[in-house]
Amino acid sequence: MLSNLATRDVETLIHPYTNLDAHRAKGPLVLERGAGVYVYDTEGRPYIEGMAGLWCTALGYSNAELVDAASAQMSRLPFTHLFSGRSHDPAIELAEVLKELMPIPTSKVFFTSSGSEANDTQVKLAWYYNNALGRPRKKKIIGRQRGYHGVTVATASLTGLQANHADWDLPLPGFLHTACPHHYRFAEPGESEEAFSTRLAAELEELILREDPETVAAFIAEPVMGAGGAIVPPRGYFPAIQAVLARYDVRFIADEVICGFGRLGTWFGSEALGMAPQTLSFAKAVTSGYVPLGGITVDEPLYAAMVDQSAKLGTFGHGTTYSGHPVACAVALKAIEIYRRDRIVEGAAEKAPHFQARLAGLAEHDIVGEARGIGLIGGLEIVAHKRSRAQYDPKAGVAARCVAFAQDEGLIVRFLTGDRIAVCPPLIITPDEIDVLFDRLTRALDRTRDWIRAEGLGAA
Ligand SMILES: Cc1ncc(COP(=O)(O)O)c(C=O)c1O
Repeated sequence: MLSNLATRDVETLIHPYTNLDAHRAKGPLVLERGAGVYVYDTEGRPYIEGMAGLWCTALGYSNAELVDAASAQMSRLPFTHLFSGRSHDPAIELAEVLKELMPIPTSKVFFTSSGSEANDTQVKLAWYYNNALGRPRKKKIIGRQRGYHGVTVATASLTGLQANHADWDLPLPGFLHTACPHHYRFAEPGESEEAFSTRLAAELEELILREDPETVAAFIAEPVMGAGGAIVPPRGYFPAIQAVLARYDVRFIADEVICGFGRLGTWFGSEALGMAPQTLSFAKAVTSGYVPLGGITVDEPLYAAMVDQSAKLGTFGHGTTYSGHPVACAVALKAIEIYRRDRIVEGAAEKAPHFQARLAGLAEHDIVGEARGIGLIGGLEIVAHKRSRAQYDPKAGVAARCVAFAQDEGLIVRFLTGDRIAVCPPLIITPDEIDVLFDRLTRALDRTRDWIRAEGLGAA
């Protein structure tokens, strides 16, 4: 029996990334409030938010300073925009602070309201840039299988996941995908991480040559793939990839939407993984998820091209009403002040060995093939046979079942296609709370194993 709120939900809402058919019977989990790393449902039941919402609430759920920053800005100037040269101090100040923090040479910052809009802007600017340089054929963009970059028409095209392409008439022409850097799944028997990286870089080079380098504008990658399964790249991967990109004058876009602002124990994932992109996209933890904000960095050559085009065309014809919303900028400024003052990024790095040790311990579990991670992000891969790495029939929904057991144990984690489970708690989580999180996840895995046995499920 669904509760009153649940019934109203089913009758009125379309939920993103939800099986809309199953939802009609199952109904929603309705959350009411949050405090620290906990969220509470309408019955008052607490759950550890082991996904920081959607990889975003780095500062947890009851940060009064963020609330006050939003409230003060709302009272002072709730809205103005950046169109036609209009400006406001929170946007100017935030752009200055971000320029200081960026791990790559950054001339300017462009704000959006989401990660999708940020990456969509990246695509458009890669095209615009090459038009400005008189290279109208250099337009193709390369993403990776299992990469995730958003849901707009262009960013779903960048994304390398079946659910974002099948029956959506995507990807658009001109969007290509190179191999997924998941060593556990795709390395040859006995292939070292370094050799795997070298092979993937060679495959990327073959793709660029096959397409004609004069037609390839940019390559986009997340430092750690999030929605694709919390996949940490193999050793030497980004240096090998970057050497290929440089050879063919292909711009490198880092999608830091999940990894930015401390997730890997560094301010940006690029710093942890030896990435040297020309530009990066950010969102999510920049405001700790409290209000929507995203953006991209603009390097000097790109900025010069944008200025030339504006002179030629009369305007820079891009931007949304909420690009640089003052309330979002004010909250981001406060969030960054807190990250710095409270050593949140350093704290994440200090807690990471404990988090990763508990995660690695799950690799011993009967149904876990791989437990991988870095910083305060981790992924599990559920398998039917550890040695052959064979998986269960996707229709059995094993990872989804495990996530449901976790919820029953008072833990929110997320299942991803390929029987994967992601863990990505608020960065403020304490060592004791990390233990509670993994104890609950272990019990969920035990219950999943017992359920698999009771159902008599075998490898697909
Ligand atoms: C790496 C990455 N890029 C882009 C996006 C899209 O961001 P949004 O959902 O804010 O549009 C996401 C969302 O999870 C993401 O994980």
